[in-house]
Amino acid sequence: KFVSVIIAAAGQGKRMNSKVNKQYLKLCNKPVLAHTIDIFEKCSWVDEIIVVTHSNEIEYCKENVIKVYGFKKVIRVIAGGSTRQESVFNGLKSVDKRCSIVMIHDGARPFIREEYILNSIDEAVKYKAVGIGVYVKDTIKVVDEDGYIVNTPDRKFLWAIQTPQTFDYDLLMKAYEKAIKEGFLGTDDTSLVERINQKVKMIMGSYDNIKITTPEDLYIGEAILKSREN
Ligand code: CTP
Ligand code: MG
Repeated sequence: KFVSVIIAAAGQGKRMNSKVNKQYLKLCNKPVLAHTIDIFEKCSWVDEIIVVTHSNEIEYCKENVIKVYGFKKVIRVIAGGSTRQESVFNGLKSVDKRCSIVMIHDGARPFIREEYILNSIDEAVKYKAVGIGVYVKDTIKVVDEDGYIVNTPDRKFLWAIQTPQTFDYDLLMKAYEKAIKEGFLGTDDTSLVERINQKVKMIMGSYDNIKITTPEDLYIGEAILKSREN
């Protein structure tokens, strides 16, 4: 099966409050996005990688990430859109014709490990749509607009979803086309597939597959990298 990976890295990283886009901030002296791509580059089941970045950052990305680290599977760096959904859709339109399994991953999630990538691809062959996540650690409350608790969902049914999310390519394309036609905007890829009555299989991920979102994530990220050196 031909496996294409789309790395969504076209956001603006507003919550990071940094002048340099968070994808290009360094963790242990290497850009976040380079850590992310490296894991997929080294994974033998991955055939091609498409990096989606902001239109102003395409050249910067090619020079400072793709060239410097010599990533050979990155066959394209393309422009994203104003929402993550738009960015991923641009990626979906530019995969190789042979693409059969497509994996969507956040550029800002540099700690995914190969075993989870392999497992996700395996399960996607079986189930066509696969999400990865972890049980939430906190008790979650539904709160109304006036600030009062509405209810407390049972924690055994609550997962925090991460990426990669992995799909049969034709299925995901169908889900995207339908969402766009109907003006639905989701914050992740499985939410689009849920809408077309396709079951999505969840697999267990790891608590260290964090997304670099706010400034303290940089310290946590360096700690994760250092803990893996040993
Ligand atoms: N993303 C994207 N295109 C967008 C928005 C987001 O490709 N228009 C990507 C981000 O680059 C990131 C991933 O989707 O790797 C997850 O999004 P998030 O963590 O929200 O990143 P940003 O949108 O960049 O950050 P913020 O929401 O704080 O501005
Ligand atoms: Mg965002």
